[in-house]
Amino acid sequence: MDGMPDALSAERMLQWLASFGRQEDGGVTRLLYDESWLQAQLALRSCMERLGLQPYFDDAGNLYGRLDGLETGGPTVLTGSHIDSVRSGGRYDGAYGIVAGILALDRLNRLHGPPRYPLEVVSFCEEEGSRFPLAFWGSGNATGRYDAARPPEAADPGGITLREAMAACGFGSGTHRPCERGGLRAFVELHIEQGAVLEREGVPLGVVDGIVGQQRWTAVVRGEANHAGTTPMAYRRDALAAASEMILAVERHALAAGAPLVGTVGRVEAAPNAGNVVAGEARFTLDVRSPSAEQLQRCVAALQTELAAIAERRGVTLELQRWLDARPVQMHGGLSSMLQQLCAARGYASRRMYSGAGHDAQLFAPRCPAAMLFVPSRGGISHAPEEYTAPEFLDAGIDVLCDLLYQLAYEGVPLT
Ligand code: GLV
Ligand code: MN
Ligand code: MN
Repeated sequence: MDGMPDALSAERMLQWLASFGRQEDGGVTRLLYDESWLQAQLALRSCMERLGLQPYFDDAGNLYGRLDGLETGGPTVLTGSHIDSVRSGGRYDGAYGIVAGILALDRLNRLHGPPRYPLEVVSFCEEEGSRFPLAFWGSGNATGRYDAARPPEAADPGGITLREAMAACGFGSGTHRPCERGGLRAFVELHIEQGAVLEREGVPLGVVDGIVGQQRWTAVVRGEANHAGTTPMAYRRDALAAASEMILAVERHALAAGAPLVGTVGRVEAAPNAGNVVAGEARFTLDVRSPSAEQLQRCVAALQTELAAIAERRGVTLELQRWLDARPVQMHGGLSSMLQQLCAARGYASRRMYSGAGHDAQLFAPRCPAAMLFVPSRGGISHAPEEYTAPEFLDAGIDVLCDLLYQLAYEGVPLT
């Protein structure tokens, strides 16, 4: 079935999932509602079916697999992560949390039969913000931040709107289950660390205390397109030169704000993008993060002022659109302590840590107890084809996930 491995292991399942959207450079590109995305979700649905996890889609395209609970009406324990990737991303980001959830539910079901409380794994449709200027579309629909029936006006770089892309995959028209989830006992997400701390310290598991806040912006600089040979330097309104000065200002402000704040411009486009034409327009992205909401806001405010001043001095216009403003969040203390104890009970060393990456768990944290467990990333590399986590660490994470899900969904251990 869809080339899915017969003998299930996390490593083999991740290889299999990476076949949906594999690129020539070895990376994976699976963008919300594109063909690889759809094939991956449909293949995961078949996989859940084969394992006896009742699969269903919600109206945004989030895919769930469910083990019914013996206690009717009991709160659901949910685990999972996102199926979309960045462009030419790795095999593990997001995918690991989904594979881990499927393997954990399968193992628990085979060993212990149906749980007391319903247990579900989810493959969220989108978290990265790689195709449309919005992020957390999957968990955002599940937590009521977005409504698939009323998508924001957003288009991808090719001009296809979110609504059109969703409709082309058969979502957004109310034919699947409603998106918003209530009655959750807990949300637990396994993820690769995407940094180098666990590897450097030789610790196999990281229990996440909190997740950074982040703002993402799109900047549009408009000047005047003109002939590169006949337009003297003094007469130009060069949008790309202005954008370049702004990008360096982003780096300077991030450095001045100091760690742990980080600021990144990862994408630049110029128009008409021709070697002998002064650029009339330049667009760039801005991504600023910090665990301190105050530090983040201060830096962004200073940047807004400085970028506007650069635009004014250079005679260009600047439009700044903020499309993500996520506050820093704390994970649930009681759940995190349980995770740490379960690591120790299995003989795995663990440490508490902070996440500099965004995660679906941050959308759930304000609504229900939420926790995250990290496994090491080789060389700290992520969002790149070289992303890698050794199978022994993948398996260690799943062991601990099984133990936690068992306590939550089978034993009904109270959360403090
Ligand atoms: C999501 O992976 C992010 O950019 O933090
Ligand atoms: Mn991720
Ligand atoms: Mn990511």
